[in-house]
Amino acid sequence: MIIDIVTIFPNFFNEFLTTSIVKRAIESNIVKINIHDLRNYSDNKHKQIDDTPYGGGVGMLMTFPPFYRIIKELKTKDTKVIFLTPQGNLYNQETATKFALEDKHLILLCGHYEGIDQRVLEFVDYEISIGDYVLTGGEIPAMIVSDAIVRLLPGVIQEESHTTDSLSNDRLKYPQYTKPESFEGYDVPSVLVSGHHGNIDLYRKYMSIKVTEEKRPDLIVKTPLSKEELKIKEKYMKK
Ligand code: ADE
Repeated sequence: MIIDIVTIFPNFFNEFLTTSIVKRAIESNIVKINIHDLRNYSDNKHKQIDDTPYGGGVGMLMTFPPFYRIIKELKTKDTKVIFLTPQGNLYNQETATKFALEDKHLILLCGHYEGIDQRVLEFVDYEISIGDYVLTGGEIPAMIVSDAIVRLLPGVIQEESHTTDSLSNDRLKYPQYTKPESFEGYDVPSVLVSGHHGNIDLYRKYMSIKVTEEKRPDLIVKTPLSKEELKIKEKYMKK
């Protein structure tokens, strides 16, 4: 997977690329993340990439030519171009999985100011928002979008984690505990230290349903409990 990030603040990404799992994925050649300074694609001697909107109005817009030039340089027939914008579709685990498993090359465009010249959108395949709030620019969204993709790429983390991730199949993850077993009167649920794998499995499946019902009822509406999940609930209650 190659991810090209187009930004006017390339330094924003220094820690992101050299820390933790993203760093490891880059070192293992599972992903290549290139940061491009959009200002290098301006033909203005001051490297200006913004201007006032036609028709008047507040603020500045990012201009079309620098985006046109860099997309033309980077895009191949397998490329998907993503523009980070609060007007986009809300990003979620399903979209991240789709990018990770189906795409080979992504170009992420980070917006700024009051927006971009509409002509850029002719070259954009997906407009993506990371949430219903407006940030100062698309850099943090670009990190979020790529981070969620990178950890799903084969070989980056244990693949079993993907199926038990929160939000995989619209269910949250069950509660987890580690040592010590008991601390200041706070105990780990006895089933988890029982060594009984059947009971542990049932507990985890049941808790995943329960936690989702409590914290994210919208996910239950989106994906109602399956027959198997209903059976799990029933079986757990009987115990
Ligand atoms: N740029 C500014 N705010 C944003 C958001 N919420 N999502 C994606 N890009 C953005």
